[in-house]
Amino acid sequence: MSEELVRMISDEIASSPCRAIPFYRYMELCLYHPRWGYYRRERTKIGREGDYYTSSHVGDLFGRVMSDVIADMRRFFLSSRRWLLVEVGAGDGRLMQQMMKGLKEKGVDRGELICCLVETSPYHRSLQEKRLKESPYPIRWADRLSDLPGGLPAVVVSNELLDAFPVHRIRMREGSLREIHVTRCGERFCDTDGPLSTEALQAYVQRFGLRMEEGQQAEVNLNARAFLREVGEWLDQGFVITVDYGGDTEELAARPQGTLRCFSQHRVHGDPYRAPGEEDMTSDVNFEALRIWGEESGLKNLLYTTQGDFLVRSGILNYLEEHQNPDPFSEVARRNRAVRQLILPGGMGDVFKVLIQWKGEGTPKLKGMHKNEAG
Ligand SMILES: C[S@@+](CC[C@H](N)C(=O)[O-])C[C@H]1O[C@@H](n2cnc3c(N)ncnc32)[C@H](O)[C@@H]1O
Repeated sequence: MSEELVRMISDEIASSPCRAIPFYRYMELCLYHPRWGYYRRERTKIGREGDYYTSSHVGDLFGRVMSDVIADMRRFFLSSRRWLLVEVGAGDGRLMQQMMKGLKEKGVDRGELICCLVETSPYHRSLQEKRLKESPYPIRWADRLSDLPGGLPAVVVSNELLDAFPVHRIRMREGSLREIHVTRCGERFCDTDGPLSTEALQAYVQRFGLRMEEGQQAEVNLNARAFLREVGEWLDQGFVITVDYGGDTEELAARPQGTLRCFSQHRVHGDPYRAPGEEDMTSDVNFEALRIWGEESGLKNLLYTTQGDFLVRSGILNYLEEHQNPDPFSEVARRNRAVRQLILPGGMGDVFKVLIQWKGEGTPKLKGMHKNEAG
C-alpha cells in the first residue's frame, strides 16, 4: 500500500467540511494520482505478470480481426488521401501492434495512415513506444484526443478504457438518493453516505429510468459522457469502436450491490479500501448511456452486440484451422483455443460488448455487421 497516497487521501478527507470525499475522488486518486495512482506506477498490470488479461493478450487475433473491420471502414474514407487510426488508453500497445500488422498485411499503404495513441500514463506511453518501435506506419502520441490533428477521417478504438474511469457511486437510503463518500474508520478508509455532489446523478437516474430499491447501489460513469462529447467534437468523419464489459441500464441494475470490483494478481474482490493505489478498480459500462450520450454528441449507433457475435460477424472463424497435431501448445492449437476464449458465452464472448458509432453523412453498411448477416 502506498503510504504517501493514503496520507494524501486522509489529509483531503480531514480538510473537507464533512470529513468525507465522494468515492469518485477517492477512485480518481487511487488510479490516476500523478505519482502514486495505480495507472501511473511503473508496474506490469496486464498479462500473466500483472493483475488482469485483456482480449489483446489472448494471442493476436483480437487485433487482427479488428484490423479486418477497420480495413472495411476505410472504404467510407475514399474522398480523403489520409486517415487516422486512434487508440485511446492503449495499455502496453499490444492491440495497436496487432491492428497495424493486420492493416499492413491487407496492403494499407504507409502514406495513407497515421496511427495515434492517446494515453495519459507516462509509464504506459513508454511501454507503447518500446513495443511500437518498428512500426510500419507513422505514429503520434497525445495526452488528449483534442491534441491530435483534426479534419481527417478517423477510426477511434478503445478496449477496456471506459471501465477504468473513476465513477460516482449512488445508494438508495430510506427513500432518498445518496452518494457514497469515503471517510476514515480507524486505520482504514470506509464508505459513508453523503449528499449528491452533482445534480447530474439525479438526472442520470431519471434519464435512464434506473430503479433504485432500498439499499441498492449503482455506479455512474460521468467521465464516459465527457469522453463521448470530446470524441463527437473532435471527430470530423469516422467510426468509434468501443469494447468493454457492461450492458444496458436494466442489466446493470440487476446487481443490487453495483459492479465495482478490484483486480490484483488475477484475483477479484469487492473491497476498494483494501490496498489503495495498488490494485485495479473497475466497473461495468452502461452501454445504453453510451448510445444515448453518443447520439447527443453527433454519433450515430451502427452496431451494439456481444464481443463473441461481433468477432464471428467479422470473420474470426476463418482463423480456425483443422489440424492433427497432438501438441496442445502448437501454434494452430493455441490459435484455435484463442478463438474459443474470445467468443464463447459465459466468458469474454458475452461479458464484453462492442459498440460501433459513426459520425458523417448517411449510414455506412459495414461488412457482416447487419441483421442476419455474419461472416
Ligand atoms: C485497462 S488499460 C487498456 C488496455 C488496452 N486497451 C488493451 O487492449 O490491452 C487502460 C488504459 O487506459 C489508460 N487511460 C486511462 N484513462 C485514460 C484517459 N482518460 N485517456 C487516455 N488513456 C487513459 C491507462 O493509462 C491504460 O493505459
